[in-house]
Amino acid sequence: MARGIDVGTMNLVSARQEGNETVFVQQRNSFVEIEYSDMAERMLSRSDVLHIRKGDKVYVVGDDALNFANIFNRETRRPMKQGVLSSDEKSAIPMMKLIIEQVIGEPSRPNERVYFSTPADPIDSDMNTLYHQKTLESFLGDMGYNPEPINEGMAVIYSELADKNFTGLGISFGAGMTNVCLSYYAVPVMTFSVARGGDWIDEQAANATGRSVDKVTSIKEEDFRLDFKTDAGGVEGALAIYYDNLLDYVIENIAREVNDEDVEEGLDVPVVVTGGTSSPAGFEELFEERFEKADIPFSISSVRRAREPLYSVARGALVASRTEEEDEEAEDVEAEVDIEADGEGE
Ligand SMILES: Nc1ncnc2c1ncn2[C@@H]1O[C@H](COP(=O)(O)OP(=O)(O)OP(=O)(O)O)[C@@H](O)[C@H]1O
Ligand SMILES: [Mg+2]
Repeated sequence: MARGIDVGTMNLVSARQEGNETVFVQQRNSFVEIEYSDMAERMLSRSDVLHIRKGDKVYVVGDDALNFANIFNRETRRPMKQGVLSSDEKSAIPMMKLIIEQVIGEPSRPNERVYFSTPADPIDSDMNTLYHQKTLESFLGDMGYNPEPINEGMAVIYSELADKNFTGLGISFGAGMTNVCLSYYAVPVMTFSVARGGDWIDEQAANATGRSVDKVTSIKEEDFRLDFKTDAGGVEGALAIYYDNLLDYVIENIAREVNDEDVEEGLDVPVVVTGGTSSPAGFEELFEERFEKADIPFSISSVRRAREPLYSVARGALVASRTEEEDEEAEDVEAEVDIEADGEGE
């Protein structure tokens, strides 16, 4: 067995293989602090709500956090911000630990391999991903796994571009970040991130319209589309403006990085977009339209959206884990054959 886990600013998703099926377990990376009371006790004991109690406080973690926040009139809090552990949130570490334990569970054997996603260092912020990466490594190690980081953009290539020899441009539009990877026969030629994604769109649209960020997020996730002209003035109009702006920003940075890295000219590259922020209808058409106008020294052969945008990074991490496991098994078999061959000679 081998596993993958996508550690995202908004969602934690684990992946494992059972027969022909890939099984995903997902939780929202969020929590809410409520006062301990008889009512809280009754609600918590009735279901399998993920929570911890500390004195007179209860922390409800994961998918249920939002329901409890609404009922108890509290705000949800997030352990991660812009792709990494949040330095503003003092409870980040115990909360993340609890959610990770819930989505991935115990290893099926000691030292089971798990690849976990980490973002590339962002080019537009001085944030560094090393502390985040090392902290996750130690959580997973303490649980009995043998953890290995995988770049989020590279995980997209493993998950979505097997039919193109792992060659192409993979972009994960997440909540806290956008991660980009250009790969040539499974070798990353360029990887970077920008510290903008769905959260940035929500904050900008909330500022512009005077609505709360939570309200904007739910309008966006429910029925927002990019494939028709929305009325100016409303939340959807503001969302469309900031979606446009995010795409231009990402493409501008791709152009700059490609030119800096001296990527071979004249390639014809397939592009895959994924991540929750790529969900609205019309996203890949808008991306393609903007990309074609940009000054980039290669052309794109197609733009495709991943079939399950929330799961592709976890799936890619699983592919990396399983490939390594198969290689090791093959090496073991070769070693055995060698030993037998040596034995015969004596
Ligand atoms: N149907 C939808 N329409 C629009 N946006 C959506 C939809 N579903 C989810 N999102 C947005 O996608 C984002 C979450 O996506 P995802 O799970 O890929 O991010 P993440 O991996 O947690 O974050 P990151 O990679 O930045 O650390 C959030 O901003 C969320 O609001
Ligand atoms: Mg992500």
